[in-house]
Amino acid sequence: MVRAVPAIRRDPLAFLAGLVGRYGDLVAFPMPRTPALLANTVPAARRVLVERHAGYTKRTAQYGALSLVTGTGLLTADGEEWRHRRRIDQPAFHHSGLEEVASQAVAAAQRVRARVPAGGGVVDVDAAVLQATLEVVGRTLFGGAVAQDGERVVAAVLEALDVVVSRVRTPAVVPAAVPTPRNRRLARAVRTLDQAAADVVAHRRQAGVRDGDGDLLALLLRAADAGELTATQVRDELVTMVIAGHETVASAISWTLHLLATHPGEQARVHAELDEVLGGRAPAWADLPALARTRAVLDESLRLYPPAWVVSRRAVVDDEIDGVAVPAGTLVIISPWLLHRRPDVFADPEAFRPDRFLGDAARTVPRGAYLPFGAGPRLCIGRDFALVESVLVLAELLRDHAVLPVPGHRVRAEALVTMRPHGGLPLRVLPRG
Ligand code: HEM
Repeated sequence: MVRAVPAIRRDPLAFLAGLVGRYGDLVAFPMPRTPALLANTVPAARRVLVERHAGYTKRTAQYGALSLVTGTGLLTADGEEWRHRRRIDQPAFHHSGLEEVASQAVAAAQRVRARVPAGGGVVDVDAAVLQATLEVVGRTLFGGAVAQDGERVVAAVLEALDVVVSRVRTPAVVPAAVPTPRNRRLARAVRTLDQAAADVVAHRRQAGVRDGDGDLLALLLRAADAGELTATQVRDELVTMVIAGHETVASAISWTLHLLATHPGEQARVHAELDEVLGGRAPAWADLPALARTRAVLDESLRLYPPAWVVSRRAVVDDEIDGVAVPAGTLVIISPWLLHRRPDVFADPEAFRPDRFLGDAARTVPRGAYLPFGAGPRLCIGRDFALVESVLVLAELLRDHAVLPVPGHRVRAEALVTMRPHGGLPLRVLPRG
């Protein structure tokens, strides 16, 4: 394992693929204290995430490092604390709120479009989309802008997550309280996020929470007033949603644009759908059912580049996975990125084929084989939010623009907290002829 550390740091995706290629679907890591198992079968993923979920917690290095930033929020909490948060947060993600997500997504995409030079040009699509998705989270879940200066919040999130990643990849980590340069960077980023969360709460308190308000911040503040949440818990929930809800969606949209830029035939099909459904106008909530191809392109992109490329759990009781004993305490690693590339589930798995997710073909994907949003009780609370947002942002960005690769720029996936294009994603964005 010690010898593997440089390879894990260099390219964790290649490392995981190499392990499975060499040792098969269940790989036990020779770790000194903690037994660890990489489980790469559909039944194994279903067992851990769905059937035996109660026997597993999120007390893992991945979630431990993340909680240095998010505190104990919905993403990192376990047991009764998690159930309590999910009860409070759930109504904000109800179907009735999605129409607002739709209109905020289109508005944010229009602000991105406004930054594209009139005759077209090279745009760092990833940076633009990160800003847009942060705005959508702020305006829908918190009923207002996250901060006057959204770029500062995006930068603080990326900075904090960068430190999180390097902690997870380093075998012997210095406790967060020791003022190493890395820990100081983390502390600075967390302070920016604390301040952004405090500003959001203060502005909302000033504006007042009205009886009918159903956005997440209103729910959290009402719960705080009822003595159900402390101020720190409100902060943790806000930061969790910013972290979980914007970089993931930005990653999904960026990878989809990359795949379309490199598959002009598929892009032409999306353009044909947008022409037919929208006829030149901006997309809206009501158009979603008709944008089936755009949605299939997104689904296929989430298969090839799942933003949450690894999901970890800790067994708290003895279990058995695919016939192998898993003692309590074992760290279990499930990688949607690996599962989505199983040739026995997805024919020609490396190929970008949105048709897999259209019509009857979509029904042949086995249950549990496609996990971009996880599975079981800890399924992503923002799944529908993300799908509505991503489809409409893509539709608005592409309805009268085409995206093309930048010659000479090599796009490389970097597996950080989410899977991101290394160094951003410059694309040539041109008006359609
Ligand atoms: C394409 C975008 C997204 C992807 C790929 C994604 C992926 C995931 C995955 C895989 C999980 C489960 C993790 C696990 O089981 O360990 C998860 C959980 C979660 N996601 Fe998302 N997510 C996305 C968008 C969002 C959005 C938009 C929000 C909020 C606005 C959000 C908030 C959360 C939260 C709070 C959890 C924890 C839920 C719980 O445990 O109850 N996500 N997400």
